[in-house]
Amino acid sequence: MRKLLPLLSDHPHGGGRSALTCRYRCGDACFQEVPNTSGNEYAGDVIAGALSRRSMMRATAAVTVAAAAGGAVLAQGAGAPAAQAAVPAHGGKDGRHGGGGGGKADGARGLRFTPVAPNKDDKVTVPEGYAQSVVIRWGEPILRGAPAFDPEKQSARAQAGQFGYNNDFLSLLPLRGEHGRQVLVANHEYTDEVLMFRGYDAAEPTREQVEIAWAAHGLSVVVVQEQHRDGRLTPVSRHPLNRRLTATSRFELTGPAAGSALLRTSVDPGGRRVLGTLNNCAGGETPWGTTLHGEENFNQYFANGSSATDKRYGVGTGATERKWERFDKRFDLAQEPNEVHRFGWVVELDPYDPESTPRKRTALGRFKHEAAQPRLTGDGRPVVYMGDDERFDYFYKFVSSKRMMKGSSRRAREHNLTLLDEGTLYVAKITGDSPAAEVDGAGKLPSDGEFDGAGHWIPLATGDVSHVPGMTAEEVYVFTRLAGDKVGATKMDRPEDVEPSPRTGRVYVALTNNTDRGKPGKAGADEPNPRNLNKHGQILELAEHWDDPASDGFAWRLFLVAGDPNDPATYFAGYPKEKVSPISCPDNVAFDPHGNLWISTDGAQLGSHDGLFGVAVQGDRRGELKQFLTVPAGAETCGPIIQDRRVLVAVQHPGEVDGASVEKPASVWPDGPGRIVRPSVVAVYRKDGRDIGV
Ligand code: FEO
Ligand code: CA
Ligand code: CA
Ligand code: CA
Repeated sequence: MRKLLPLLSDHPHGGGRSALTCRYRCGDACFQEVPNTSGNEYAGDVIAGALSRRSMMRATAAVTVAAAAGGAVLAQGAGAPAAQAAVPAHGGKDGRHGGGGGGKADGARGLRFTPVAPNKDDKVTVPEGYAQSVVIRWGEPILRGAPAFDPEKQSARAQAGQFGYNNDFLSLLPLRGEHGRQVLVANHEYTDEVLMFRGYDAAEPTREQVEIAWAAHGLSVVVVQEQHRDGRLTPVSRHPLNRRLTATSRFELTGPAAGSALLRTSVDPGGRRVLGTLNNCAGGETPWGTTLHGEENFNQYFANGSSATDKRYGVGTGATERKWERFDKRFDLAQEPNEVHRFGWVVELDPYDPESTPRKRTALGRFKHEAAQPRLTGDGRPVVYMGDDERFDYFYKFVSSKRMMKGSSRRAREHNLTLLDEGTLYVAKITGDSPAAEVDGAGKLPSDGEFDGAGHWIPLATGDVSHVPGMTAEEVYVFTRLAGDKVGATKMDRPEDVEPSPRTGRVYVALTNNTDRGKPGKAGADEPNPRNLNKHGQILELAEHWDDPASDGFAWRLFLVAGDPNDPATYFAGYPKEKVSPISCPDNVAFDPHGNLWISTDGAQLGSHDGLFGVAVQGDRRGELKQFLTVPAGAETCGPIIQDRRVLVAVQHPGEVDGASVEKPASVWPDGPGRIVRPSVVAVYRKDGRDIGV
């Protein structure tokens, strides 16, 4: 019998993150008041009865999703989507206790590995029989002319041609005509100045340090080469597709709010041209061969916020941590109040066109975008699911009014780059089906045996038409959180990454945690967020009618209520809890080629470093969660990609532990003692060269 694991807590709200993470990642968001102070209360049965939940779950599982995520235009090789056959409904609550768990050759197909035990080792720990290698590190040169990395002589110019800091979302796209090569796209969410610069003085950052940080943010595109003998990948430096986009690169605002007075600044009176992208967290891949990148905690880069809308987005009223406002007045809202409105969007990048200007898609709304993952409706229109990662904020979707054009002709590519500019933005209202009194806030399952119910998509705006009383369409797009407040969206426990299953169309939403749930004056537990002081998070499973994109209802249930399996307040889709790995703070999610869900964690607090887990979502082993790897000290596991022969993870912020610095590192990963700690992408593969988990 596993003992309850000791809990780590060095966070004001009981989370597992270090204070250093809070300071640099999200501008101490958790130390501040929850920005959602709206009186928007969970309104019980407003939409209950809008649809029959259980019949819908069954119907959705049987829907053929042939069009969904369909054949990526450029798909070939290892990056191609999994088969899209219709699948039978899973066994529901019954008859799924068939298999044993955990054994080496045991588990659902794709998950047959010996689980890694929780640990605090300063390395990437992988299952027996597996090997790993670093694909690319912070500072490795990828553009022509960029110098080799030298942390003692770093410059902004060098950094602008090198892989950025704190890799988060990863995408691997096929590269036609170049054998064994794929295109790696990475987000660089933020910088850890004290871990980057020897002798860093936070009160007096230098211009060079600030400009290095600008160049270390943003996105990287780098072609990688597969190795013949194993799952290793190595960067192809100076490939013509390689690209860096930073906090000073040119971006374009498109869609219904582009050009709005709310987006105009002194240097951009047209309100359509922005310098840079910031705090790119997770993202997504489109079926037409582009990538999407969420701008998350953008608020922390802007000083002297004063408006009510700034407050709702958590923009501070004083100086910022990094003091960028001293070096570029656009970061000082007293001088340039609209600049902050030009961040907090979903960016669409065409990695196959190195000359293209990435677009910030205003039709998808402005909030702390964690991720954006599209699917196609039965009639070929993209639906993009999006989480706003803040305690008590909302879950959204966008449905395009245009159909994707198939093929890779120039005409098709140009058309598809307009898909995310026209459509309807919705926010989710999520209602439980059990009596409120049965949701006790401690995680006890209601008498119907599940946290589940119905949901309703509330339209916010379609093109230039607002559906929110008292707000124009432009206001809805720029101040989307306020629109959600007005229509009574459901306050969620930090909606992070989201991933539709390529097999069933069901959508999985990671809700990381919310230790403010149920505190005095704050919203208490409800069926989709059933635990007060929620430290460990949950994963919600949502089912829509894919053949009816106009449908505004969905069914949902919690797939996972995370924590130590010995804690009665946990739930693993009904699977026997003695056969699963402990998990805390689910964050990024991805599907493998077999249809299993993989989950990475951020801020795990069960006495182990963060890690990556795989779990079956269908069949007898639905809920059998197994840990695949753990990451080094202070790190978070990001950007998982699971291909047939390899697993890729972004090891983000290794060594980010309170009190650590370049001089006093808390981690020696990846290069050992005496070398600076470097966020890096890691590939994991089998020593015998066979497929992962079979
Ligand atoms: Fe950047 Fe929500 O994690
Ligand atoms: Ca994240
Ligand atoms: Ca229920
Ligand atoms: Ca995270």
